[in-house]
Amino acid sequence: METKVAIIKDIKKDIKFIEEAAEIIRNGGTVAFPTETVYGLGANALNEESVKKIFIAKGRPQDNPLIVHVSSKDISSLVKEVPPIAQELINKFWPGPLTIILEKKDIIPNMTSANLDTIGIRMPNSEIALKLIELSKRPIAAPSANISGRPSPTEVERCVEDLNGRVDYIIGGESSDIGVESTIIDCTVNPPMILRPGGITLEMLREIDSNIDIDKALKSKPSNDLKPKAPGMKYRHYAPKAHLKIIRGKNEKTIEIIKEMLENYIEKNNDVAILTTDENLNKFDKGSVISLGSEKNLSEIAKHLFEALRKCDDLGVQYILCQGFEEKGVGVAIMNRLSKAAGYDIIDV
Ligand code: TXA
Ligand code: MG
Repeated sequence: METKVAIIKDIKKDIKFIEEAAEIIRNGGTVAFPTETVYGLGANALNEESVKKIFIAKGRPQDNPLIVHVSSKDISSLVKEVPPIAQELINKFWPGPLTIILEKKDIIPNMTSANLDTIGIRMPNSEIALKLIELSKRPIAAPSANISGRPSPTEVERCVEDLNGRVDYIIGGESSDIGVESTIIDCTVNPPMILRPGGITLEMLREIDSNIDIDKALKSKPSNDLKPKAPGMKYRHYAPKAHLKIIRGKNEKTIEIIKEMLENYIEKNNDVAILTTDENLNKFDKGSVISLGSEKNLSEIAKHLFEALRKCDDLGVQYILCQGFEEKGVGVAIMNRLSKAAGYDIIDV
């Protein structure tokens, strides 16, 4: 399949590309597009055949439901009911990185919801994404625009790398500022429950309802006794090709242990990358050292996380050593993605 790639420099002047892509969505095709969290791979959410193409292009397991993207806060045609708490969350956080799970209407095919009675919906805060949804006149189902299991793309080049030849159209033009996928909150239960941490933090959500909590299954390695409620959270995910290990503890001790491990791996002829902060950057004199940003700014760390994992793959290293981050604010989402990418290989020091 031939993939057309278009980069939007000026949304007004380049509107024809978004119109073209919208037509592809209407005709049942697939389009990768930017959002403020990560790039998405979209298709008409209301058409089974179209949605199926997403699963095929990504190699995604069919029991993993898709998020439906809308360009308006009125979602009454898609869900049975919008409870008051969900309405409050919509008013406060949309457009933005919050996916809300509600009971779906029959208009949403089972292929989109992976046979669940519920559906996750979000209104992205990206000019290009909103224009695409609006012009296609359909809600767009879109998982992250990566081959299943790989780190989500935050730059258009990474979509091309994964999806060229597998989808009809790729639109670029914005890099994803949040860098981790949306927070998912289940509003079919009371109090609502966070099924995936993301850019909208627990602290922010508790300002709306102090009883909101995080799915307990997210705090440890998934097991048969404790399965995450979001089907996608049970898979190994976001994974680079190298072995990723997380070293968590007080800063000085963490650096000491990373250096020891580094020596050890290099002695055995391995190439090693270190993911660290601006503050720690010059404390290592071996390996490929990559900074995720300042330790004072967790949003910056989140923004650079997936791209850094992909850079490690470009370097072809066998091991990646990454320091842990404080699980506060967006730090919860960072540690969730890192833990999954590492297959829960976490060393507490
Ligand atoms: O930020 C995002 O959410 C990005 C951008 C493109 O919008 N999308 C994204 O989609 O991360 P994806 O498919 O990579 O992740 C969707 C997650 C999966 O873990 C899936 O299991 C969960 O949402 N999910 C979707 N519908 C659900 C439902 N009805 N109940 C529980 N979990 C659901
Ligand atoms: Mg994904």
